Amino acid sequence: MNYTAILPAAGSGRRMKAGKNKLLLELSGKPVFIHTLEVFEQDPACEAVWLAVKQEERDVIESEIRRLGLKKVAGFADGGTERQDSVRACLEVIPECEVVLVHDAARPFVSQEVITRLAEAAQEQGAAIAGVRVKDTIKKEKEGFVSETIDRESLWMIQTPQAFRYGLLLEAVKSAAEQGFLGTDEAMLAERIGQRVQIVESSYENIKITTPDDLIHGKAILASRQQEEEK
Ligand code: C5P
Repeated sequence: MNYTAILPAAGSGRRMKAGKNKLLLELSGKPVFIHTLEVFEQDPACEAVWLAVKQEERDVIESEIRRLGLKKVAGFADGGTERQDSVRACLEVIPECEVVLVHDAARPFVSQEVITRLAEAAQEQGAAIAGVRVKDTIKKEKEGFVSETIDRESLWMIQTPQAFRYGLLLEAVKSAAEQGFLGTDEAMLAERIGQRVQIVESSYENIKITTPDDLIHGKAILASRQQEEEK
C-alpha cells in the first residue's frame, strides 16, 4: 500500500540537554534524522516524505538531505509549538493521498515490515498505530503510595508510525484544532471523533531518541544490526 510520510522534526529536545535539536546529533556518523529518512528512502511504497522543521534549522536539514542525495523529501512545513501543530502544518501542505503515515523523526530504528503492515491496516481499517506490550508491572500512585496495580495484559506502549486514511486524519486534526484539544498522539485525535484504531505489534528497538542514554542504546542497536549483516 503506497503512502505519504509526515515526519515531525521541529522539537527542541530539551531532555537531551545537548543545547541543540537532538535530531541533528550524530549517531554512528550520521544525524539521527538522516537514519530515519533512510528507512523511507528505501521503501518503494513511500511516495513522498514531508518534514516539519523549525525555520532556523531548515537550511542545515535541507543541505544535509541534498548532500546525501535523498530523493523522497518532497517539501517542508514550519513546525509549531506542540508536536500536534507540527503535524497539522504538514497535513495542510501535502497533496491529497490515500494513506498518511506520521512518524517521529526521532525514531530511527523503525522496521520496514511494521511500516508495510501499518499502511495496509490503515487502508483497511482507517487508522493503525505501532506499539509494544508493556513488560513491567504498572502501578498508579497517590501521595507516594500505590493506589492501584493495573492489569498489564491489556496495556501497550504506543509508538509511531501511526497511519491513517488521509481524509480521516485531516478531519481529526481539524476538529482538535477547532476545539483546542491537545492530544499526545494522532491516534487520540482520531479516537475522539469515533474512529477505531488498530494496534500493530512493533519492536522494542523502535525507540524514540529522547535522553542521552537513548544514544548509547541507539549505537548498540546499530552495532548489532551491522553484526547481523556481516554474518
Ligand atoms: O519531544 P519528542 O521527542 O516527544 O518529539 C517527538 C517528535 O516530534 C520529534 O521528532 C520532534 O522533533 C517532533 N516535534 C515537532 N514539533 C514540536 C515538538 C516535537 O515536530 N513542537
